[in-house]
Amino acid sequence: MNLETTIWGVKLENPVFNASGPDCTTLEELEWLQKSSSSAIMMKSCSIEPREWNPEPRYFELELGSINSMWLPNLGYKKYIEFSKTLKQNSKKPVIASVVWLHREDFPILVKTFQEDSIVDLIEVNLSCPNVAGKPQIAYDFEMSDKILSQINNLWNKPIWLKLPPYFDFVHTEQMAKIISKYNISFITCINSVWNTLFIDPEKEQVVIKPKWWFWGLGWDYVKPIALANVRKFYELLWDKVDIIWVWWIKTWIDVFEFILAWASAVQLGTIYSKEWKDCFERILKEFEEYASKKWYKSIEEIRGKLKVL
Ligand SMILES: Cc1cc2nc3c(=O)[nH]c(=O)nc-3n(C[C@H](O)[C@H](O)[C@H](O)COP(=O)(O)O)c2cc1C
Repeated sequence: MNLETTIWGVKLENPVFNASGPDCTTLEELEWLQKSSSSAIMMKSCSIEPREWNPEPRYFELELGSINSMWLPNLGYKKYIEFSKTLKQNSKKPVIASVVWLHREDFPILVKTFQEDSIVDLIEVNLSCPNVAGKPQIAYDFEMSDKILSQINNLWNKPIWLKLPPYFDFVHTEQMAKIISKYNISFITCINSVWNTLFIDPEKEQVVIKPKWWFWGLGWDYVKPIALANVRKFYELLWDKVDIIWVWWIKTWIDVFEFILAWASAVQLGTIYSKEWKDCFERILKEFEEYASKKWYKSIEEIRGKLKVL
């Protein structure tokens, strides 16, 4: 079976690669990804200045997922520009930068510098990241999102890629879709962690993670219906304008198959990659290929978007 897929002109040898975050912060980790079956190398979200980890405990595994509060530890964008050069020298795998905003003027600097000084293939602009105190995360602030996208729209000569948080009301999804339609945005990643969640250990009568007053992002099975609804709604609103990269609760080939069936061009692996490490790419792809071949599919394009509706 031909597993090749394309995201806006960038060819991927298969539809599965890593999500920004787990194990993609250092050059050593990125080189592991280079040797794995991940079809692209997504780098850790980077800010202008390097950032430290939040205090422990900052990650907690739950029965149906995990809760984390890493606080975007990264080595600063200059390091990722350097890493991208080394990675591109050693293989043809697409390298993707992920940039985050901590101050209003950061995004234009980050996008422009990656454009001028690096050879990354694509940039994921993370609008679902921490931001200035007293303000919601950017993608929940529609006025600010509009302003930021207008500032970076012409700084990058390839399509801009947005990573979005979940929306819980159609009105908000529609507002964001309207903004996205105005700019040179060709694909979106749905969805980042569901913020503002709290877990309690009843035995210890205590919260389970320390940072940010113990509230933080929830992932995996708990959010599957939220993730599906967000992707479906964005697909309805933007199917003729953007591609969707799905990130969430991917554990097995079944998830990959369902996402591609529903419209995805590719999927990103987050938690499963940190749990199983680089072997997960090979396992999931092998199982996916076996199943799709059994159904006589010969390419990803034959499966993509073929979801039957009632
Ligand atoms: C430990 C950890 C660190 C993360 N760091 C980032 C990050 O730096 N940038 C980002 O956009 N998302 C980050 N995420 C979110 C993931 O990219 C992904 O959106 C989320 O984990 C859902 O995918 P999953 O269910 O496969 O884990 C992080 C997630 C985890 C678990």
